[in-house]
Amino acid sequence: MLTPDLLDRAVELLRRGGVIALPTETVYGLAANAEDELAVRRVFAIKGRPATHPLIVHIPGAEHLSEWARVVPDEARALAKAFWPGPLTLVLPRTSRATDAVTGGQDTVALRVPGHSVAMEVLSKLGGGVAAPSANRFGRVSPTTAEHVQRDLGSDVDLVLDGGPSTVGVESTIVDLSSGAPAILRPGGLATEDVERVLGRAVPVRTSTTVRVSGSLESHYAPRAGVVLAEPGEAVQRVEALRAQGLRVGVLGPASLSLPKDVQRFDVPGEPAEAARVLYARLREADEQGHDVLVACLPAASGLGIAVRDRLSRAAAPR
Ligand code: TXA
Ligand code: MG
Repeated sequence: MLTPDLLDRAVELLRRGGVIALPTETVYGLAANAEDELAVRRVFAIKGRPATHPLIVHIPGAEHLSEWARVVPDEARALAKAFWPGPLTLVLPRTSRATDAVTGGQDTVALRVPGHSVAMEVLSKLGGGVAAPSANRFGRVSPTTAEHVQRDLGSDVDLVLDGGPSTVGVESTIVDLSSGAPAILRPGGLATEDVERVLGRAVPVRTSTTVRVSGSLESHYAPRAGVVLAEPGEAVQRVEALRAQGLRVGVLGPASLSLPKDVQRFDVPGEPAEAARVLYARLREADEQGHDVLVACLPAASGLGIAVRDRLSRAAAPR
């Protein structure tokens, strides 16, 4: 149970340089006061993440944008108005409040207002910014429950707040508005189509940039088992071919697949938003069963399907 006492303790810990796990609607975050350099360094240390990979600063509301961003273009305001609180991160030119520790020394800062009641309450009580990457070790699958965090990071964090399973299930969509035309740096929990509708123009996905986006490393989001991608129509054939090689095969996909009876299936529905919501939990469960290979069915490439396909492709990348 999340009592007011526990929320107060979380805020107090953040004020004193603590590091806590915070539920958000996308994934759980590993949170520190963004203005406390030592606490931010501890986040990097717990994650095992290179110090040059910048963190997202979570703020209580869009009215705080100009404290962190020295330029806030109209398009940023329009997106914030339409989608905050929610699974959208804006990259903007930073003010000095966004320190080098958080931004990796870049001239920009990534900002988000999370849409989860627990995160929002902690942020508004703190009244400041919270730097929070996903609460997993670097390169592993992101956590969508408090239990995932507990298992990955356990006693390394000062407190794990349990806000229930994340409802979006994949990380926020990152939109770069720091210079020139807007671009999507990471497809995520907000569909590209929705961003384009509000901006009234096409917004290209630009995942490889000079900016260090750790989500764009090829083998990010990696389970231990190998991952093989399949369009729904080819999944069964893939499974049979891999089993013929003597491999232990599990499947991530919808109930509609007609699989051999002895093949273990982990339910990832074909509907993209549903698939996004359960993807990381199913990847973890499947990975715990000791399969050699997981055959992952791809959802349609629209809406949140783009983010799901992106994460699955990274999970399948050679490492
Ligand atoms: O949904 C989310 O965004 C979750 C929750 C906890 O809010 N957070 C998250 O954080 O996914 P993390 O650190 O795992 O991913 C943040 C991404 C990284 O790929 C990072 O490189 C990118 O944001 N990023 C941060 N600051 C940036 C900047 N100034 N320019 C470009 N990319 C930036
Ligand atoms: Mg992450």
